[in-house]
Amino acid sequence: MRTQVAIIGAGPAGLLLSHLLAAGGVESVVVETRTRDYVESRIRAGILEHSSVELLKSVGLGDRLTREGDEHRGIYLQWPAERHHIDFHDLVGRGVWVYGQTEVQKDLGRARDAAGQEVRYDVRDTQVHDPDDPYVTFTVDGVETRLDADVVVGCDGSFGPTRSVVPGRTWERTYGYSWLGVLASVAPSTDELIYAWHPDGFALNSMRSPTVTRLYLQVPADTDIGEWSDERIWDALATRLGHGQDGWKLTRGPITEKSVLPMRSLVQAPMRHSRVFLAGDAAHIVPPTGAKGLNLAVSDVALLAPALVALVREKDSRLADEYSDRALRRVWRCTHFSWWMTTMLHASGDEFDAQLQLSQLRWVASSVAGSTGLAENYAGLPIGF
Ligand code: FAD
Ligand code: DHB
Repeated sequence: MRTQVAIIGAGPAGLLLSHLLAAGGVESVVVETRTRDYVESRIRAGILEHSSVELLKSVGLGDRLTREGDEHRGIYLQWPAERHHIDFHDLVGRGVWVYGQTEVQKDLGRARDAAGQEVRYDVRDTQVHDPDDPYVTFTVDGVETRLDADVVVGCDGSFGPTRSVVPGRTWERTYGYSWLGVLASVAPSTDELIYAWHPDGFALNSMRSPTVTRLYLQVPADTDIGEWSDERIWDALATRLGHGQDGWKLTRGPITEKSVLPMRSLVQAPMRHSRVFLAGDAAHIVPPTGAKGLNLAVSDVALLAPALVALVREKDSRLADEYSDRALRRVWRCTHFSWWMTTMLHASGDEFDAQLQLSQLRWVASSVAGSTGLAENYAGLPIGF
């Protein structure tokens, strides 16, 4: 079997890349190790930056997003006895959208169906061979298939095989804590997200829809989820989010999903070796504070798609040669922002560290310079930044 671009991984990066390539007249085949149901129902990110939304709208993927998603002007930053609204619209003229990654996946899947795109789900033993003249092998029901391509793109997430065939340098940072994330069938207790610093640990009140709330708690890195009953989770959330403070109430409801999410930063450079490219979590991982992972996957493929169209159709390699440097510039900006939000908001270190965090939070919330920096990065920089 032969195609112009072989894409490994049908997450947001892989499916969006396939969509953008098709719009540019380039054919692709996507191979994915999981089932379609699994990919479309895994609970992950929920915030889209302004430029991600603009890109999705510009390629016909914005209808349901703008109908069912919720545009937010900003976020609340909180610490005990104080809650401050940071209004991104007032500060930088743009906001963010709450729209679950599950919904982005479904929209992408339907768009690929409508275009007759080949996505091979449920494959095994994916391997990338010969970066100079690349091909991919995988098995379906025990039968090996070979897929030859002009270019292979690894969109295979943080544990996929493609990163290992791209030599280079890796920078990594682990944090001594994780997030316990829950989904609850209850109306959100807040109109916009609350990021809360608390001596017991960070908490985040997010949402998915008018009837579904998404919440996170900082927990130790080695947390056994069995130790967290629903009641213990709600009690910790109530304390850290300030239930009862100035009349605010956290409404409890049935928890339908809970999982522990490890926190780490990783950047691999370059994001290309010969005719093999990396995009999204395959090349970089950010801790979730600041909601950058999904948005970086979108911006990588927004840069990569025109580069591959020029390479495959016109044999013009200029954009492809620039891809890694251009993508990494934005990757490092988001890596810094995610690290900054993470270290400002999570309990770690001693009393001295806590006082520094509180001082920084007060400055961010009260100074136009401080809050504009947060707003500009959170609402997102232009894709070509
Ligand atoms: P993925 O979405 O990971 O897609 C990669 C795809 O490649 C997967 O479908 C995988 O099954 C497939 N694959 C892997 N190996 C192979 C193989 N050998 N062959 C074929 N296919 C393969 N971000 C937030 O902002 N907030 C969150 O709360 C949040 N929660 C997260 C929870 C988890 C558990 C994870 C892993 C990530 C989370 N993120 C979150 C980050 C965000 O979801 C990712 O940044 C985003 O999914 C990146 O998209 P991607 O397409 O690059 O990678
Ligand atoms: C969500 C996740 C994040 O990491 C974040 O910073 C904000 C919201 C979410 O899943 O809703």
